[in-house]
Amino acid sequence: MSRILVLGGTGMLGAPAVRHLLADGFDVRLFARNPVKAREIFGRSVDVVAGHVGHLKTLERAMEGCEAVHVSVGGEVDLESATDVTGMAPRLGVKRVGYVSGTTVREENAWFPMVAAKLAAETALRTCGIPWTIFRPTWPMEQLWNFVRTGRPMVVGHLRTPYHFFAADDMGRMVSAAYRLEAAAGQCFHIHGPEAMTVKEAVERYARALDPDAGEAMVMSTRQAKIISFLKRNRKLRGAAELMGYFERVGEPGDPAAANRLLGAPTTTLDEWVVTEGKVLAEA
Ligand SMILES: NC(=O)c1ccc[n+]([C@@H]2O[C@H](COP(=O)([O-])OP(=O)(O)OC[C@H]3O[C@@H](n4cnc5c(N)ncnc54)[C@H](OP(=O)(O)O)[C@@H]3O)[C@@H](O)[C@H]2O)c1
Repeated sequence: MSRILVLGGTGMLGAPAVRHLLADGFDVRLFARNPVKAREIFGRSVDVVAGHVGHLKTLERAMEGCEAVHVSVGGEVDLESATDVTGMAPRLGVKRVGYVSGTTVREENAWFPMVAAKLAAETALRTCGIPWTIFRPTWPMEQLWNFVRTGRPMVVGHLRTPYHFFAADDMGRMVSAAYRLEAAAGQCFHIHGPEAMTVKEAVERYARALDPDAGEAMVMSTRQAKIISFLKRNRKLRGAAELMGYFERVGEPGDPAAANRLLGAPTTTLDEWVVTEGKVLAEA
């Protein structure tokens, strides 16, 4: 497999995948709504087709000549990105489609709209008629920055489940491996990192690495967050409260054994990540 198109290649999980695909010799093309940002991150090492999800003609042009397409978009166009790609892939001779889902994505959690959309996107891959690979990651360590960026570490929601946080770079390596392995076709891989900890514990460890005097993380209930988001008309906080309310109700399902065996397990610990990526994020 040589040329691969990546949708969402400038994102938190997409960018490390692109870096590993390049290092592993793939000819990488990005479908990016912000080509300037794509050039700032990757320079001339990638080919960039400018376009938004929903622009079918541009997407078709971007997919032409690609043997694989990796979808790592999410948000409001999550399902649309997967259905657009899988709808055109067989006709364009694509030999593998991949999609980034989530570790809690399963039927019993379909009451949450994000999960319902991801389940439908997974179905689009499984039924499109060409080999597919689904990645179901848990929490990336890079998310921790969102809990410490405003100064005092703060967590929304009482999340008691320990999560196996992983470094996005480890997942990027696994994604690239999956496109090189025939055995990764038809597989749904759960990506879990090497150690389990609660979000609060992870946030506090990260905050202390940045500032040894950082105190305990403040916990705001999802109810408080919803009230504040309503009073301040803060849609982002509302979305965060809803997402954390969801995570309060679901655990961390999924078995990472197949991903670890076939793609090589994530090895980066939180302590290793904070001294490299974690500090770079904070200084950026
Ligand atoms: N981050 C997590 O905690 C996490 C955990 C598990 C699963 N996931 C899943 O992993 C996937 C990737 O997430 P992420 O955290 O990497 O997301 P992200 O950082 O928000 O990146 C999203 C990417 O999609 C691009 N994009 C968004 N809307 C677009 C549009 N309309 N047209 C074209 N490109 C568009 C963004 O481009 P710009 O650079 O222009 O914004 C960016 O490259 C998602 O499906 C998400 O649900 C994420």
